Amino acid sequence: MAPVPTPTLPDDPALLRAGLLGWYDRARRRLPWRAEPGETADPYRVLVSEIMLQQTTVATVRGRYAGFLARFPDVASLAAARLDDVLHAWQGLGYYRRARALHALAQAVVARHGGRLPAEPAALAALPGLGAYTAAAVRAIAFAEPVLAVDGNVARVLARLAAVERPLPAAMPVLRRLADDLAGGDRPGDLAQALIELGALVCRPRAPACLECPWSAACRARLAGVQERLPAKSPRRERPTRHGVAFLLTDAAGRILLERRPDDGLLGGLVALPGTPWIEDGPWTAKAALAHAPAPVAWRSLPGTVRHVFTHFALELELLAGGPGTAGGLWALPAELGTLALPTLTRKLLRHGGVAGA
Ligand code: ADE
Repeated sequence: MAPVPTPTLPDDPALLRAGLLGWYDRARRRLPWRAEPGETADPYRVLVSEIMLQQTTVATVRGRYAGFLARFPDVASLAAARLDDVLHAWQGLGYYRRARALHALAQAVVARHGGRLPAEPAALAALPGLGAYTAAAVRAIAFAEPVLAVDGNVARVLARLAAVERPLPAAMPVLRRLADDLAGGDRPGDLAQALIELGALVCRPRAPACLECPWSAACRARLAGVQERLPAKSPRRERPTRHGVAFLLTDAAGRILLERRPDDGLLGGLVALPGTPWIEDGPWTAKAALAHAPAPVAWRSLPGTVRHVFTHFALELELLAGGPGTAGGLWALPAELGTLALPTLTRKLLRHGGVAGA
């Protein structure tokens, strides 16, 4: 078999950069974490935004970023905060593991670097919970180093630009090398964000807007007419559905029983409704589910289910309501729910159960 040629950039990197930056200057969105042209971004603000944006959409982060920053305006205030307050401010962003990691990271930055994020790559990479993507994004955007961070969106742009046929994620090393070839010039932070922006606005997963693309004349995927097909995906298992039952127990005072989930695992450390484990071979029979009920009261099943999608599985929960009853745990009045760090899933369940204020 003929060897597959190593993908290369289809044009001179300086020309590609100039085209992309020209487009970015015209098309960029004003986003609350972005420095305006000519300003330098604050490393802490960049760090927070990049961690939020890893698993949450721009639209959601846009609505939550300013609130988080107002509460924790710098590394020191975040490091000194109680974890519960950080989790509370993270509400609605999902994947709370990131909030704990960010809190731990802030504490390490205070302990090791006097509260200033270090610019040296080795010191940055040694911080807990700072992955390769985030470290590269901070180095480029906040410290103007000529590196490019490759997330899923950037990977898509580069895979099309160079017509990389190897599927993701196996193609990542090749794509990182292409990113290294492209990096450089005198506006590294803008370049990193321009590439992200191109992936978000033009080189979209479906129906890329090639007519608006500054790279359309060079793009190998477009020249071959395969832009919609790239990047190729490895065949992967369908997202399975897990099933569970949650319990909405009220006491005589109208309070609702909640419990804190174990620190490890999904929704770790957050306050949620008690329930069964989440299993793939469901749904649960009433008898099996009731073995997990927090109190021996008459439970009634509410019609319908609550669905919630995590990265690796979808969850379908039934809700049983009962009470008055008592049990050990955390009790909260509906009016107090706003002060707790409740995951979106729990709020959905509470709303499904007709709890006002959830
Ligand atoms: N996604 C990841 N980083 C981003 C950024 N800086 N701006 C917009 N979307 C992003």
